[in-house]
Amino acid sequence: TLQRVYVTRQIPPEGLKILKESGQVQFELWDSDDVPVSRAELLKKVKGVDGLLCVLTEKIDAELLDAAGPSLKVLSTMSVGFDHLSLDELKKRGIRVGYTPEVLTDAVAELTVALLLTTSRRLIEATHEAKTGGWGTWRTLWLCGHELANSTVGILGLGRIGVAIAERLAPFKVKKFLYTDVAPRPELAKAINAEYVSFDELAKQSDFLAVCCALTPETKEICNKELFSKMKNTSIFINTSRGGVVNQEDLYEALSTGQIAGAGLDVTVPEPLPTNHPLFTLKNCVILPHIASASYTTRNAMSALAANNLLLGLRGKPMIKELKL
Ligand code: GLV
Ligand code: GLV
Repeated sequence: TLQRVYVTRQIPPEGLKILKESGQVQFELWDSDDVPVSRAELLKKVKGVDGLLCVLTEKIDAELLDAAGPSLKVLSTMSVGFDHLSLDELKKRGIRVGYTPEVLTDAVAELTVALLLTTSRRLIEATHEAKTGGWGTWRTLWLCGHELANSTVGILGLGRIGVAIAERLAPFKVKKFLYTDVAPRPELAKAINAEYVSFDELAKQSDFLAVCCALTPETKEICNKELFSKMKNTSIFINTSRGGVVNQEDLYEALSTGQIAGAGLDVTVPEPLPTNHPLFTLKNCVILPHIASASYTTRNAMSALAANNLLLGLRGKPMIKELKL
């Protein structure tokens, strides 16, 4: 008999095709990509399923797992991040968890570089000025920004994505890469010739600071006033990990007072960030709607990996990418 699965979003076609053609599962789908499934609907739909495939808008907590009941054996999230999952609750219930690292590394690194340059060279302001009559004449210091050549780039949380970002930035003639993490990661650092420094030194020395760590209780709001106050007023802060690692009030303060030069954020708290949020009023803050992995290739690869993880898990096999709980 077919195993029952609920899929919380109309995920990209490659994953759906894999589920359909597997002959292994009977799945029900929240058939929209434009609005997430409501909590009430989700709590109803998960009842008695064997597997659940979700995206990062779904909070997978005790309440939801209780609603699903003991039949639920496998959770597969179409994301590399897992801060939307209560890992303790999943572990307690013996539920296996799949996720989608690696397939999105290139897309996220590309977007991070794009966001960094957009922020440092003030591209959003520049197109706005060109379009709205601000371009009176060519002026010598107008719309000047900060360049990557001869700069120091700091990476907060060195993993696959941080390495991929540094590899892409190196050809821009970056002088030095620094990183910090809970412990040195020499094998990763070697590939990009990055030096391990304290959090303090990272703040003080970086001309560009890229946040690449996971959101955990330890990293929650570690980018706060203390960090920003140590940064140079010419520095650019970039976050493509999770909004929760940043104290946004402190960031607003740092940006509006010129404590730091600019910030590029692909992630915020909450998402979407309300359009009347103070950060949107700042010219030196570029905000993107969480699109770092949004290339057709990558989103399809994430969809396929999430589907394959789910099917393997439901067969009691090792998943391609499984979280160790
Ligand atoms: C995106 O943010 C992801 O976690 O995959
Ligand atoms: C810029 O366009 C220059 O000619 O210096």
